This record gives sequence, C-alpha cells and structure tokens, in this order.
Amino acid sequence: MTDIQELLLSRIRDVPDHPKPGVVFKDITPLLADPAAFAALTEALAEISLRHGATRVVGLEARGFILAAPVAIRAGLGFVPVRKAGKLPGATLRQAYDLEYGTAEIEVHAEDLTPEDRVMVIDDVLATGGTAAASLELVRRAGAQVAGVAVLMELGFLDGRAKLTQELGGAPLEAL
Ligand code: PRP
Repeated sequence: MTDIQELLLSRIRDVPDHPKPGVVFKDITPLLADPAAFAALTEALAEISLRHGATRVVGLEARGFILAAPVAIRAGLGFVPVRKAGKLPGATLRQAYDLEYGTAEIEVHAEDLTPEDRVMVIDDVLATGGTAAASLELVRRAGAQVAGVAVLMELGFLDGRAKLTQELGGAPLEAL
C-alpha cells in the first residue's frame, strides 16, 4: 500500500449498522475534513483523469459531486453533474437502474456531453456498480467517449467491476 493509500484509508470511518442493520457504512467525512487527505485525493483523481485523456469530469450526486468538482478544477476540465431524476432544469437524458429494492433514475443535461467529449466518471464508492453503469450508459447515449471511471474505494465483494465491463468497453476503472 502506498503512503497516499494509507492516508486515505486512515480517514475513512466504518459505521456499523448504517443506514440499516448489517450494513457497514464507509463514511468519508473525516477524509473531507482533513485538508491534506482531501488534497491528496483530489490530486490523485485529477492525475487519473488527465492520464486517460479526459476532457470532462462527471460527478455522481451527491457524494460524487464533492470529489469531482475540485478534481475538475485541479485538472482544468469542465464539470458535469449527473443528478437524481427531476432536479435538472434543462433537456435531459434519463437512465433507470436497479436498486436492492426497486429502481432509481439519474439524469444529465443532454447539451453537457457531446461526441467530442472524453468523460471520466468520478464517485466516492463503487458498490454494486449500478449507479456507475447507468452513468456510463448516459455518456454513451449522449454520443460522448468514455475515458474511464475513477473512485475512492471499490467494495470488491459486491463485484461491481464485473457489472461495468460492457459499459466501459475497454476503458479503465481505477479505485484508489
Ligand atoms: C452511493 C455512492 C455511489 C453509489 C454506489 O450513493 O455515493 O454513488 O451509492 O452504489 P452502487 O455501486 O451500488 O450503485 P447514493 O445513491 O447512496 O447517494 P448519495 O451520494 O446521495 O448518498
């Protein structure tokens, strides 16, 4: 493990039985409150974005916004929000995805992603992969190119990586 990985890991708090019994929630607020750790995380995600030739950074509501916005500034790239359905005011593309119980929908402004764009999707956690897969589907439907997906942490036991294989189309998934 690198020094940065040790720093990041040390600032993620396990919260047992949140939001329901049996779930161990990965709380990133201690990391966000530590300026050195937050800066290191932002820098690492910006480096990944630029290394893979991204021209736009997509953040996934809500915790993905906290990471993707400073990454976009650090990398000198535009930021595009993918929001839960019903929040964006303009013409949108909408994508449904499965939750443990039921479905959810996310949206992006159609004009924010064009065929010229190479998009890095950024989020805090890859769990089942449903949210990231749906966001990649939005990128693809907009005609934009996928630069990759970059997350702070991947919950490997949920095998979200496998769910993204097709949507990534050979683009990288990097988990710090
Ligand atoms: C969490 C997390 C990811 C997603 C990962 O967001 O921030 O976006 O779930 O889960 P998945 O890989 O199983 O799709 P959540 O939907 O809880 O929204 P929040 O960021 O607004 O809390």
